[in-house]
Amino acid sequence: MKLEVIILAAGQGTRMRSDLPKVLHPLANRPLLAHVLDSARKLLPVRIHVVVGHGSERVRDALDAKDLVWVMQEEQLGTGHAVLQAMPGVDADSTVLVLYGDVPLLRATTLQDLTDNAPALLTADLDDPDGYGRVLRDSGDQLLGVVEHKDASEEQRAVTEINTGVLAYPAALLNEYLPRVGNANAQGEYYLPDILSMAVSEGHCVAALRANDANEVMGINDRVQLAEAEAVYRHRAAIDLMIAGVSLVDPTRIDVRGSLECGRDVFIDVNCVFEGEVTLGAGVRIGPNCVLSNCAIGAGSEIHAMSHIDESEVAAECSVGPYARLRPGTVLAKGARIGNFVETKKSKIGEGSKVNHLSYVGDAELGAGVNIGAGTITCNYDGVNKYKTALGDGVFIGSNSTLVAPLDVGDGGFVAAGSTVTRDVPQSALGVSRAKQRNIDGWLTPKQRAEEAENEGRGD
Ligand code: UD1
Ligand code: CA
Repeated sequence: MKLEVIILAAGQGTRMRSDLPKVLHPLANRPLLAHVLDSARKLLPVRIHVVVGHGSERVRDALDAKDLVWVMQEEQLGTGHAVLQAMPGVDADSTVLVLYGDVPLLRATTLQDLTDNAPALLTADLDDPDGYGRVLRDSGDQLLGVVEHKDASEEQRAVTEINTGVLAYPAALLNEYLPRVGNANAQGEYYLPDILSMAVSEGHCVAALRANDANEVMGINDRVQLAEAEAVYRHRAAIDLMIAGVSLVDPTRIDVRGSLECGRDVFIDVNCVFEGEVTLGAGVRIGPNCVLSNCAIGAGSEIHAMSHIDESEVAAECSVGPYARLRPGTVLAKGARIGNFVETKKSKIGEGSKVNHLSYVGDAELGAGVNIGAGTITCNYDGVNKYKTALGDGVFIGSNSTLVAPLDVGDGGFVAAGSTVTRDVPQSALGVSRAKQRNIDGWLTPKQRAEEAENEGRGD
């Protein structure tokens, strides 16, 4: 059966108290609506219709994609009215899955199960069903319909089974019943769930499936619920990692905001954040409080505490940090070491090379076995242009050197500590550019001199 998805996202989201449209608020660093789209796409629908209203342009700009059909609902007259706006673009022989843009944690398996049973409504049992539409069943447990909280009697409000809003319906039935939905109710809105009782009363059987996990159907109306959803997301990601063989010191203190692929026996300490696409090879160890974005860490490497790695590649058996910052374009070859308070950018660090303390290495290419002393700076920028520094194999740069690019140090070249190097250093040569030291014998400190002057004065 051909599937089309309609996502309702026209509401204002007043309770967020925000200038940002609600469905653009981030969950795990991506808009709520992006998560709904992810789940929807897993079902391989022919099209996804997104009904937008408030902030429609921003929503569209943020998430536009080829498989999306944007439907404008100028006035928010209710969920039934919203779905009706999308129907002209829906093939009459398809099955339609209706989702909400602010219900981001649904699993694709739950949605698949629902569409396989269309016409079907997804329900959930909640301890506190206040505010939700209640599910009404007959004595044989068959679905009768949904009554909104505001329209419900005391007796109906005692029901704890609620309408999640998610339903799968043949397009033919939507076309038949939606235009007949009225708005004579407490809110003066066109209610989508009214199509349930209409279909049932005309002899159709509509399934009502309970969600296994009430967390899945959680809707986001305010920032408290947004934080609760973030916690559910975090927990799910942590469970998936541990099941896959990753050791987490504390599963409540890891944030995966994207995809994290791990080899065997990876160890992750507390408070680490993973963003975008990150891969960790077998046996990688990540210390506490690290942030890793869009990077790959090779097998056996160790990232020590407080390190930040962004758009970089770290090969096998490297050591990074503590307190290291690898900026975009950093590539470490096997066994390289980056130590504390070192910043790198757009640089290749060759096999076994070391930058262990307090250095900045930018736009540089280091060969194998290079040693960069503490406090070394590549001066790669003149305010307009960026220039490259190339250091051959086995180069040794003494501490506190400034390497003014463009600069080339040949294989085995040596730069004396404290040098400001502006000219290339040939292979195996020593570059030294610092003032010669002179020692002044018997030098008196200003204090000693003052004391001496005083003594002389007394002698007069
Ligand atoms: C709706 C259901 C209720 C259910 C609850 C689950 C109806 C009438 N009620 O109530 O049974 O228990 O969801 O969370 O359907 N929207 C539009 N256009 C509109 C109105 C709404 O796009 O004209 C969108 C909203 O942006 C939101 C979704 O539809 O994403 C639900 O709307 P909302 O007003 O939150 O419905 P509820 O009153 O919560
Ligand atoms: Ca709602």
